[in-house]
Amino acid sequence: MEAKDKAYLKELADAVEQHLLEQVQVTPETRRQAAVIEAMRYSLEAGGKRIRPVLVLEFCRICGGTQEQAMAAACAIEMIHTFSLIHDDLPEMDNDDFRRGRPSCHKAFGHAVALQAGDALSVAAFETILKDRCQTPERKIQLLEILANATGAAGMVGGQMMDMAYETRSDVTLEEQLAMCRAKTGALISGACCLGCTAAGGTEEQQKLAAQYGEKLGLAFQMVDDILDVTSSTDVLGKPVGSDAEEGKTTFVTLLGLDGARREAARLTAEAEQILQQFPHHAFLTALTQELLTREK
Ligand code: IPE
Ligand code: IPE
Ligand code: MG
Ligand code: MG
Ligand code: MG
Repeated sequence: MEAKDKAYLKELADAVEQHLLEQVQVTPETRRQAAVIEAMRYSLEAGGKRIRPVLVLEFCRICGGTQEQAMAAACAIEMIHTFSLIHDDLPEMDNDDFRRGRPSCHKAFGHAVALQAGDALSVAAFETILKDRCQTPERKIQLLEILANATGAAGMVGGQMMDMAYETRSDVTLEEQLAMCRAKTGALISGACCLGCTAAGGTEEQQKLAAQYGEKLGLAFQMVDDILDVTSSTDVLGKPVGSDAEEGKTTFVTLLGLDGARREAARLTAEAEQILQQFPHHAFLTALTQELLTREK
């Protein structure tokens, strides 16, 4: 990624972070609830890559919309993603003590608070869109529907369930693994692209392309995540490496081997880039798509 793209990415991520922290803060009215709000902020401000909200903002832009129109949905998807990570790290799930370069939420605040912080973030996401002043009620309903589908039993939560069920099996097929990842990771990434498109009032054709791009990027993204769990270090990743093997998980690395997983991620990335060509002003998103394939964290 060129320096100007990196600078632009940081600009978008910083704008998202600022809005996120404005949404989630202790006020005189909520001072008695400070304990849960502090835990929500702790996980939000830890500084992830902000890929999903950036996808919302950029899909809105290439479909002809403004940053203001997309910002509520961008914050919403990052809240859902952060909630998914807080719960994902719990001992009942992946049992990871480190996230985004600091102790996981349950390590810092205790398990019960981490559960509550995740729950509250999942609701705050919908509230953020509801309270948005930039969108019409009709458009908000469309955004809420996309977010609900991406988050719930048909999306991320359902995918996490498959992930847990597959842990106890040694005969998970590639087809099953793909279906699981389409849900646990693909749904939020694809949902982010569709949210951006909808925030701009994009056409049905654009919606379809945004969803297709997001599905391919989501699979490639999880393949790279599985690869990094084997090849990277905790220092660089900000989360434990070797966690998948420790939990006895089937991953794209165990199914395809390191080189096979790398090849498959590259193939999906190329297909995703092809889809982007059909949008105007896609240069930055194309650079980002490529960057996510070669990312080190
Ligand atoms: C991690 O997502 C979880 C997966 C779906 C693989 P990210 O790699 O986007 O995590 P952050 O937001 O940068 O911390
Ligand atoms: C992430 O999968 C999926 C969700 C959190 C929804 P992982 O369990 O592989 O994510 P990391 O590696 O812990 O970030
Ligand atoms: Mg997991
Ligand atoms: Mg995990
Ligand atoms: Mg992982």
